Order: sequence, then C-alpha cells, then structure tokens
Amino acid sequence: MSESLVARSLEFGQPARGRLTIVRAQGARLWGADGREFVDLGATHGAGSLGAAHPEVARAVAAQARELLYLGSGYSNPVRTAFLERLLSLLPSSFTRVFLSNSGAEAVEAGLKAARSATGRPGIVAAMRGFHGRTFGALSATWRRELREPFEPLVPGFAHVPFNDAAALDEAVDESTALVLLEPVQGEGGVHVATAEYLRAARAACDRTGALLAFDEVQTGIGRTGRLFAFERWGVVPDVLLLAKSLAGGVPIGATVTTEEVARRFRGTHHSTFGGNPLACAAGLAALEVTVREHLPARAEALGAIGRRHLEALPGPKVREVRGLGLLLGVELRERVAPYLAALERRGYLAISAGPSVLRLLPPLTIPDADWDAGLRAIAEVVAGG
Ligand SMILES: Cc1ncc(COP(=O)(O)O)c(C=O)c1O
Repeated sequence: MSESLVARSLEFGQPARGRLTIVRAQGARLWGADGREFVDLGATHGAGSLGAAHPEVARAVAAQARELLYLGSGYSNPVRTAFLERLLSLLPSSFTRVFLSNSGAEAVEAGLKAARSATGRPGIVAAMRGFHGRTFGALSATWRRELREPFEPLVPGFAHVPFNDAAALDEAVDESTALVLLEPVQGEGGVHVATAEYLRAARAACDRTGALLAFDEVQTGIGRTGRLFAFERWGVVPDVLLLAKSLAGGVPIGATVTTEEVARRFRGTHHSTFGGNPLACAAGLAALEVTVREHLPARAEALGAIGRRHLEALPGPKVREVRGLGLLLGVELRERVAPYLAALERRGYLAISAGPSVLRLLPPLTIPDADWDAGLRAIAEVVAGG
C-alpha cells in the first residue's frame, strides 16, 4: 500500500500531522519512533499539564484497570465518588454538581443543554475568537468561520460578541439568554486574556437577566494560568464551569460543574456511556493530588513570569505582542508562525500555533527549569533567525 493510502486509511478530516511519530514520554520529554528526543512546549495541547506519562497517573490507571475497568454511570463507585468530592473540595461551595464526560466538547455540550433546560430559554451568547470544540453545539459557540462553514447549518440561537467589550456583551444579553459562554483566556483564538472588567460585566449581565454564566476552562483549568482555576484570579464565579484536557492527567475526561440551583431546574436527561468511568476517575484523582501537592499552579505562575520576561525581550520587528497568563503564553508574530514551529522542531522543541501567526506555548507545568530556559532560548534563536 502506498504511503498516502496508509495515511488516508488512518485519518479522517485530520490535516497531515503524520510527519512525526511519537512513541514515549517522560517528564516534559517526548521521544520519536526514530529515537529523536523533544521537549514538549505544547505538543500535548494543554492535556499534558503533568507531562504525557506521569508515573502517579500511570500507576493509578494500572491499579484501577486490575480492579474495575468499566462500570455504567447508573451505579456508584468509590473512585468516582472520591474524585468528585476532591474536585468539588477545590472549588467554591456554590458548586455541588458534576456531570462527567470524555472530552472538552462534551463538557460544553452538557453545559449548553443544562443552560437551555434549566432556564427554558434559547439564547447562547459567546465571544468572537472563542473556541469551544467541534461537536455541533460546541461548534455553534465557536467563532472561526472555516471551522464552522463546512458543517452548516449549525445549532440556532447562538450570538457572538467582541471579546473584552463589556458594553457589547451587556447589550447582547437579555431575558431570552440562557447562557453566556466565555473562555477566561482565549486559547485557540490567539491567547487573549479577559479583563477583570469584562468578566465582572458578564456576571452582572447574567445576574440582571437571569441568564447563566459559564466559563470554559477546558484549556485554562487545573493550574495552567497560575491559579488552579483561572476564574480565581478575578474572583468572578460562574454558574457553570467546563473542564477537560489536563483534569485526568492526559486520560480522556470532561466535566461540567454546576450549582444545586441549575441541577434542580434541569429538565430532561443527559447521559454518556463512558462518562465518569473508573479509569478516568482514578487518573483524575491522582492528577489532582499531584497538582495540589506539588503546588503546580504556583509553579505555572513563576515559570510563566520567566517566560514572559524572555519573550518580551525578543528582537523587535518580527514580534507584534506577547500575551498570556501562567504557562499559557502566546507570541503574536508579524508573519506566519509555521516556519518558526518547524525551526523549533528541528532544534528538538515542539510548540503549537494559535491561528496563523501566534506561537503558543503550553508546556507541562512540571517542566524542569533547565528545559524551560533552553526552550525560551531556542525561541529567541529562531525568532532572531539564528
Ligand atoms: C477552551 C476549549 N474548549 C473546548 C475544547 C474542546 O475540547 P476537546 O478537543 O477535548 O473536545 C478545547 C480544545 O482545544 C478548548 O481549548
């Protein structure tokens, strides 16, 4: 079979990323099938906050697999209960209910359904440049035209307002709004950080109209931005919190966290066969334990500050702006980012983009100081064209 036929038979709708085959991880390091070694500056797309093979997560998964691999969500199970209790213990007391699923998009879908069902209203207000996933509801909340267009018509009832424009948001939210859905830091959309004023205005608009406020912390949650949850930085507490990616240390999981009030008003049913499965819950419990015990949000804050200093000192004309919080950093270039990512890869560093011209850094929060410093030096070299 020709190489292209093999690729086609394996992939569907996935642009060719097949140039690198990765087979193993340790700490912030990844190894290619050809033995080459890389430092992960974003290769795990935010799901590898503990690296891509944390030994405690791996041990918990292996032990759980020997006990009970799978159980329908209609039965309770001590590992699920322990995970849910631990997660809720780390959140404000207004959060009492969690729906577990298997991905970020599923966490968003459950949030959208909960909001429409609990409020009896149709309207969803999301932000321009926002990204919430690729299932129909999550895609309807996502902004980028090229992601949406091939699949239209999408779900009706969604409106998009400019990010960080408090007045526009206030105007868009009314008594027909079920949900305001925002990322505290827009990740895929180019690494744009919400202002305190904007998030407070969102909270006020929801309180004024009876709409629910959801923060999509799929990418920002679990320590990434220097707080366990990004919303802690602004002190604005949403009604619905959406988590996934690193919540279970790299094992698939999604969580839609909400209040007693929303759960009480919820009509209808929502369910997922694999949601809340014992493997993911065991991994999640271990991942939370490591994140809290090793003070990883503080580590993200400290390493993020070092990163910002380095990135802000990058040589002038090619860099438009440096943005981000903690270890979610974006360098907006005045040109396309792809050649810079390739140059970093040749030096042994895997970073990703956020749109055509933003270099996005999402390293494990556990990245050793020396790897982070070396990664930042490599970025300076490639930006300087060296
Ligand atoms: C903010 C945000 N929400 C939702 C998603 C969708 O998550 P998943 O790819 O797990 O469906 C992503 C993925 O990048 C994301 O960054």
